[in-house]
Amino acid sequence: MPGMMVTEELRTIARQLLEGELMLGGGFLPARRNPLAGPAVAASAPAAAVPVPAATQSPVAPAPAAMGRRVDLPPVEDLPQNLSPTDKAAALDAMREQAVACRGCPLGQSRMNLVFGEGDPNAELVFVGEAPGADEDASGRPFVGRAGQKLTDMIAAMGLRRDQVYICNVLKCRPPGNRTPQPAEVVQCWPFLVRQLAVIRPKVIVTLGNPATQTLLNTSIGITKLRGQWQSLPDIAPGLGGTPVMPTFHPSYILRSYTPEVRGMVWSDLKQVMERLGLKRK
Ligand code: URA
Repeated sequence: MPGMMVTEELRTIARQLLEGELMLGGGFLPARRNPLAGPAVAASAPAAAVPVPAATQSPVAPAPAAMGRRVDLPPVEDLPQNLSPTDKAAALDAMREQAVACRGCPLGQSRMNLVFGEGDPNAELVFVGEAPGADEDASGRPFVGRAGQKLTDMIAAMGLRRDQVYICNVLKCRPPGNRTPQPAEVVQCWPFLVRQLAVIRPKVIVTLGNPATQTLLNTSIGITKLRGQWQSLPDIAPGLGGTPVMPTFHPSYILRSYTPEVRGMVWSDLKQVMERLGLKRK
């Protein structure tokens, strides 16, 4: 009966909202008291996709005047497949050193610290954010400010710890004033992200917000349309094409729009990831 179906649907939505409340900290920070006015990320990011070169093509070079020394990474195709966890850790450490030396765009000069990424080099689950903010720039670690605490809560809600997943960003250096990454900056940093993913070979990638989602999926479709629906990673490196990608809202957006609806949507996205990875809530 149609009436019964509506009731059942309402029950499902109510259950989802309640679970989102419980798992993502609804009781701790009521929406009207949330003072955070973080960087514009999910809702207000530009709709146009950041143009991303295929990993195998040479990136479009920005104007030479704005450029310093770029690091030429070996072709990602040369990366051995089936690296052991120890080899993966070593490969990521070596790449971090190369990234420290990179002056491919002006952000390499203005940053305080490189924020390469951290976590388990053998992680099944990788979270990709946009770019370091002030706290990350100061510490050299991804997602350690208020948005980072929210991401940590999200990971804990999935029954995991931060050191059991891998966390990184599209950009490894902080854009001044936390502005949205510029296409030329994304182009310069892109080979590092591709190689990080090619080394780790996660089973699932969660993209946080518009810039990460649009960059990795090479799309101009916005996060509001894409979130909650499994996507497939384009063929950016051998063995990576087809990796399941779950786009969800950026933690900064969750904090800015701290409503039961938004928290319920994010929790429903994370539950899909848990199901895919066979994770049980503890
Ligand atoms: N926002 C991001 O996208 N990444 C961080 O590391 C911190 C805040």
